[in-house]
Amino acid sequence: MEFPKDLPSASAAVHSPVTASPSGPDRPHWVPIRPLAQRHRGRILLHLLALNENDRYLRFGYAASDVQVALYVDLIDFNRDEVFGVFNRRLELIAQAHLAALPGDQEAEFGVSVLPKARGRGFGARLFDRALLHARNHGIDTLVIHALTQNVPMLRIVRAAGATVERAGGESTARLRVPRDDLRSHIGQIVETGAAEIDYRLKVQAQRTANVLDVIDELRTHSMAPGQAARE
Ligand SMILES: CC(C)(COP(=O)(O)OP(=O)(O)OC[C@H]1O[C@@H](n2cnc3c(N)ncnc32)[C@H](O)[C@@H]1OP(=O)(O)O)[C@@H](O)C(=O)NCCC(=O)NCCS
Repeated sequence: MEFPKDLPSASAAVHSPVTASPSGPDRPHWVPIRPLAQRHRGRILLHLLALNENDRYLRFGYAASDVQVALYVDLIDFNRDEVFGVFNRRLELIAQAHLAALPGDQEAEFGVSVLPKARGRGFGARLFDRALLHARNHGIDTLVIHALTQNVPMLRIVRAAGATVERAGGESTARLRVPRDDLRSHIGQIVETGAAEIDYRLKVQAQRTANVLDVIDELRTHSMAPGQAARE
């Protein structure tokens, strides 16, 4: 591990992704990205099943059926691979990425999907940054990304990170050499993970409060005399 001369503050580590990222006016400054585990398989499946045929074609290279998507999710090896997710305020998994270890463990393949309603806000790019940070800290040499040549957003993400892209007809393969880890990258990962966890807990709490308020509202409505609720 290389030690940099200038150590980042905790917040700098969060706000300074390892690679260049898109920075349009609507892009969130920081995206809470959580590492996912076995227990999230169901949510990952729901996320992928919500993709339409065209998106599945872009994501998997073929228009995967529901059964094929389910098989893919079943086969994710959480011991070797890393899966990351972005949850919205309703705790819906709106974006997720899978970094799959390739034989030999020196290379890993990156795949990502963002629900249509959440696209164009930098989630895809941020998930790529996060996967790269993980790869960097876990001794992975190269990231491999298979994308259809028509997949402009995906190719923009990998090109912005400095990947070389080889085109073979309708398919492109991007390869990105992963920089070596250093103290900054390790601190960055710890802070990113911790902050995303806090963000998630706050969302859970907010969701619970909203549910309780809904129930109170419901009870109030039903306990009122007929016609009273309509007048309020
Ligand atoms: C590819 C995908 C993950 C991108 O996610 P996203 O969150 O919308 O991407 P971002 O907002 O981070 O944008 C990334 C770049 O693409 C550009 N972009 C986004 N949508 C675009 C569009 N429809 N056309 C052209 N460029 C687009 C952004 O401007 C940005 O480029 P910039 O940094 O030069 O400004 C998303 O479109 C998706 O889920 N597609 C279906 C599945 C898929 O294709 N997976 C990838 C194969 S592994």
